[in-house]
This record gives sequence, structure tokens and C-alpha cells, in this order.
Amino acid sequence: MQTVVSGIRPTGKLHLGNYFGAVKNFLMMQENYNSYFFIADIHSLTTHPTPEDLHGSVRQVLAEYLAMGLDPEKCALFIQSDVPEITELYTYMNMNAYLGELERSASFKDKIRTQKNNVNAGLLTYPVLMAVDILIHKADFVPVGKDQEQHLEMTRQFGNRFNRMYDVEFFPEPQAFSFTGELVKVPGLTGQGKMSKSGGAGDAVFFDEDDDVTRKKIMRAKTDAGPQEPNSPHSEEIANLFDLMRLVCEESVVQQYVDAYADCSIRYGDMKKQLAEDMLTLIAPIRERIREVKADDAYLAKAAKIGAEKARESASRTMREVREIIGFKKFY
Ligand code: ADP
Ligand code: TRP
Repeated sequence: MQTVVSGIRPTGKLHLGNYFGAVKNFLMMQENYNSYFFIADIHSLTTHPTPEDLHGSVRQVLAEYLAMGLDPEKCALFIQSDVPEITELYTYMNMNAYLGELERSASFKDKIRTQKNNVNAGLLTYPVLMAVDILIHKADFVPVGKDQEQHLEMTRQFGNRFNRMYDVEFFPEPQAFSFTGELVKVPGLTGQGKMSKSGGAGDAVFFDEDDDVTRKKIMRAKTDAGPQEPNSPHSEEIANLFDLMRLVCEESVVQQYVDAYADCSIRYGDMKKQLAEDMLTLIAPIRERIREVKADDAYLAKAAKIGAEKARESASRTMREVREIIGFKKFY
């Protein structure tokens, strides 16, 4: 069976964009691949979280992925810092990663601009750690968005360089996982591109928030002055609302509003009410489950433990060979 690896940055609550853009794909992959999904808590240290914030975000994300259907029996859902083999391989791989190539990474250049006061070495070597996450399980595929393609290219570069240096065929070349069909891009509610937690107040609908909060956000979503004549094209704001409807409403319901727009009888208030109720039908049971899981220390512990065991088994197998290839030989 082929192997996939994907890292999840623990940065707060999950929204509809994360669900349709990432989690749903994971749910599909855990059925068909040898899947490793991990919470990248070591990566997140570059932003210097407090111990409470770090643990709180890891817990939130772990609970949310479990509640959304990731199954510890079907995949390896683990926390990066539970696998010390990762930091070991990171040390070795850093010896063959060069300053020039690391400085050229788009994400590093971006950080130099946006956080001038915290340009730490961990940011510079972020691509090395990410490569290790992937190579340590000898992944065939990595489901990543466009913004991560350069990191994946660097991963292949580091793996190939290791292979050449020691004249082995050890690390396979991981490829971006391409989903059949269109990649989903979930629009935000403020009418400015994709839904994002950093998209400003009211942009994202989170799973772990109360019904009324969700309803209010949707009722305040940006619209326009309404269709001025029959069959006029949809403005960006309205197209976004229809895109959201297509994710959660029945097709016939969406069509009814498309027709109402075309003949100018549409009332945006009704459309938003419909959208809010259908969205809550999807969200409510998942939210209840998130809250149950978050309060269930025993279940969280069990899930994290199973995940760590699976990940360490694979990682330690790789590391035994890596140490030998490099030439670390035991005298005892
Ligand atoms: P955010 O943009 O809120 O910071 P992240 O960058 O943490 O979200 O995204 C985590 C995962 O969710 C990534 O795989 C990303 O591609 C996916 N994702 C985030 N927002 C969306 C969206 N609006 N539509 C589709 N996928 C999304
Ligand atoms: N860099 C990824 C992001 O910002 C997260 C990540 C870390 C990752 N390690 C990974 C993704 C390994 C895929 C594979 O979203």
C-alpha cells in the first residue's frame, strides 16, 4: 500500500475551509493509504507559543480531527513531538542543507518581511524539518496546496542528496497528491477570497462555536444591491454565497435561489437563512462530538498513544538504517 504523510499546524479552531479543503481528503485517504497525519507542534515553536497555548492548540486540533472522523485504527494520527526520531533525523539532515537554498525559500523570505524581529534558525530550517516529516515514513504522496509545493521540491532535493552522498537508493521521491476532480476552495464571508482564520472577524465559520454566532456571521455576510435586471451575472459576493450553498444545501434548493436571482425575485435574507440552517445541520453533530472528545482525557490519551506507537514504529525502522548508512556504528 502506498504511504501518505501530512502535517497539520496547530493554530486554533477548524473552520469550514479546513474541513472541505483538508479534513475530507484525509477521511478518504485513511481508507485507501497507509496514512500518517500529524500535529506539527515542533514546527509551531518558531512562533514561541506559551506552554499553555501550545498544549491547548494541540488538544483542540487533536479533538477536532478525531471528532470529524479520523480513526486512530485506520491511520496514524500523532503528535510530532511524540516521535523523537524526527528531531534526530532533522539534526543529520541539517548538515546537508545549505544556507543559500534555505534563504531562497519563499516562505522564509516571506517571514523575513512579516516578522523582522523573530527571524530564528528554526524558520530558516523549516523546510528541513518538513522534509524529515515526510522522508522518515518514506512517503509516496503528500497532500499539499500550492503554497507548499516548493517545500515538497526541497524534500525531494534533500532526499536525493542523501541518496547520492551515500550511494544508496534509500529515500523515495514524494509527489504532491493530486485529488481527482476539482480542489475545493471555500470562500470566506467577508467577500475577500478564501475562508481563513486570519481573514478578519466574521470571515470564517468555525465548527466549535455556538449556533447563534454562526447565524449572525452568515446574516452579516457581504451581499450587493441585488440583481438589477433579469439574468444578470453574479457579483463576487453572491457567487461566494452560492458556492457555500453548493457545499451544504441540496441541489434543488440551490437551484431555487439561482432561479430567483435570475428573475430578480431573490431575497438575500431568505437565502442566508437557508444557508445558515443547512450549514448548522452539517456542523451541529460534529460540534457536539468535538465537545465530547475535548472533555474525554482518556480517549485523547488513548488516541495519541496509538498514533505515537504507529509513527515511532515506522520512524525507528528508518532511523536504524539511516544510522548505519551514515556510519554510526555501536561499540557495545
Ligand atoms: P487558514 O487559511 O485559516 O490559516 P490553514 O492555512 O491552517 O488555514 O489551512 C489548513 C488546511 O486547510 C490546508 O490544507 C488548507 O489548504 C486548507 N484550507 C484552509 N482554508 C481553506 C479554504 N478556504 N478552502 C479550502 N481549503 C482550505
Ligand atoms: N508546512 C505545512 C503547512 O504550513 C505543514 C507541514 C509540516 C506539513 N510538515 C509537513 C505538510 C509534512 C505536509 C507534510 O501547512
